[in-house]
Amino acid sequence: MGSDPNSGQCAFRHATTSYELGSDPISPIGVFDSGVGGLSILRALRAHLPHEDFSYLADSGFAPYGERDDAFVVERVRAVAQRLLDDHAVKALVIACNTATAAAIHLLRDELPGLPIVGVEPALKPALALTRTGRIGVMATRGTLASAKFRSLHDALRGQAEFLLQPCDGLADAIENHDTGAIAQLCTRYAGALGRFGTGPGEIDTLVLGCTHYPFAQRELRSLVGDAVRIVETGQAVARQTRRLLEAASLSKAGGEGSVSYLSTGDLDKLRLSASRWL
Ligand code: DGL
Repeated sequence: MGSDPNSGQCAFRHATTSYELGSDPISPIGVFDSGVGGLSILRALRAHLPHEDFSYLADSGFAPYGERDDAFVVERVRAVAQRLLDDHAVKALVIACNTATAAAIHLLRDELPGLPIVGVEPALKPALALTRTGRIGVMATRGTLASAKFRSLHDALRGQAEFLLQPCDGLADAIENHDTGAIAQLCTRYAGALGRFGTGPGEIDTLVLGCTHYPFAQRELRSLVGDAVRIVETGQAVARQTRRLLEAASLSKAGGEGSVSYLSTGDLDKLRLSASRWL
């Protein structure tokens, strides 16, 4: 498997001009994240696609991604995608991680033509539709905020509102470890650094959660920003887009009760515990 993101070489053993392995409606959908954060996306996927089977892979042995360089994240995304294709014959991939999407979705799409691939990006456009004060807070990993993909999204929209960007080092890791003390402390620090929240002039009235781990700190964030602030996450939009792509490719599973298989490159018990708490 290639690891150089700029090599331009196909890194996938199964890649052809059009993807065939696993292109069967009864195959599962592969969903992955650096860890447990993608469960916030899986929750929405299950609600929208109740008949589908999912293989959820947490790359916890290599988490967090958000404070690593692009080459590392690209290599992990390729390895994880390869495993889901080889061992689970997935019919589609959902990259349930903003950092991984920003670093690698364009490469995966080139290398796996024909495979439906859905990614996640911070919900700046939906936030624009919600804000009244024109001040929007964005919490994400350092990697996401530094990526070319995010910069071009931000550049396209920054004339329409003021986006305040906050890298949140350590927060995904604290959520990954269910470390409630660290979660509370980091949320207080990062929400405080963004500025004043509220619906008055000059206040931040919309908060974008640009990392799939952060919805699991929603309670702490809500208590800090107050009830009037809109907190925006991306699960529903990702689930709708996944449904559209499956329908367009005639890959939707028609009936039966959906299931989830949990996989991890780290501690599988921790993933199961998180899933049982949050799903
Ligand atoms: N959940 C991931 C995201 O959406 C990243 C967390 C991490 O590994 O740093 O960006």
